[in-house]
Amino acid sequence: MRHKIEISPSILAANFLHLERELKIAQEAGADRIHCDVMDGHFVPNLSFGPAIIEKVKKNVSIPLDVHLMISNPEQYINVYCDAGADTLIVHAEACKDVKDMMQRIKHCGARAGVTVNPDKSINLFLEHLGIIDQVLIMTVYAGFGAQKFIGETLSKVKEVRDEVVRRGFTVDIEVDGGIIPETARLCAENGANVFVAGSYVFGSEDYAERIGALKKAAEKGRGQA
Ligand code: DX5
Ligand code: ZN
Repeated sequence: MRHKIEISPSILAANFLHLERELKIAQEAGADRIHCDVMDGHFVPNLSFGPAIIEKVKKNVSIPLDVHLMISNPEQYINVYCDAGADTLIVHAEACKDVKDMMQRIKHCGARAGVTVNPDKSINLFLEHLGIIDQVLIMTVYAGFGAQKFIGETLSKVKEVRDEVVRRGFTVDIEVDGGIIPETARLCAENGANVFVAGSYVFGSEDYAERIGALKKAAEKGRGQA
């Protein structure tokens, strides 16, 4: 089954003093999901926001929330982030003690289970559990900051995950995150991605609808060549 192409703007790049307005405009501009980057100043050298903000975001949009946990000891926070409103909860496999147990616990809380790894970590940390994973996020930059440059070498991971999903007949969203602009979205789609996170490209513009539209168009084009 081919998944729908979806654009997931990352609010890390939004204007936090006007978050309610930013969310409303992004949703009306055609965002399919909202991507929430949670950073703890320990797993990554940056701090963002926690469950209280996610709860507010949830109340202000009708589209699903992807919550990307860039935190140490994610085991301790599954309930908190599911209760705050995560529709998909994404954890870093390299931060998990037991990836399979994490996926099961996230599902048990009622959210979709997502997993990711930094560019220097292997997808073998989670690949054997693909059958219980709802979403794989391929980091196309190192977790921690917005507006970094896309790392081209990560494309092979997108393709490897896509090939494995197809080979084993699973239904898994493949999301990419970091440095996504139309050109990189097209490359990722060519290699099998269907969900595209974009922070600075969307929120750094005056016209979110134009940016979201450009990403969708580029991804559709890439998929056509897949
Ligand atoms: C990086 C975050 C990304 C980031 C993307 O740690 O996971 O979601 O916000 O930002 P851009 O699209 O600006 O690279
Ligand atoms: Zn992210």
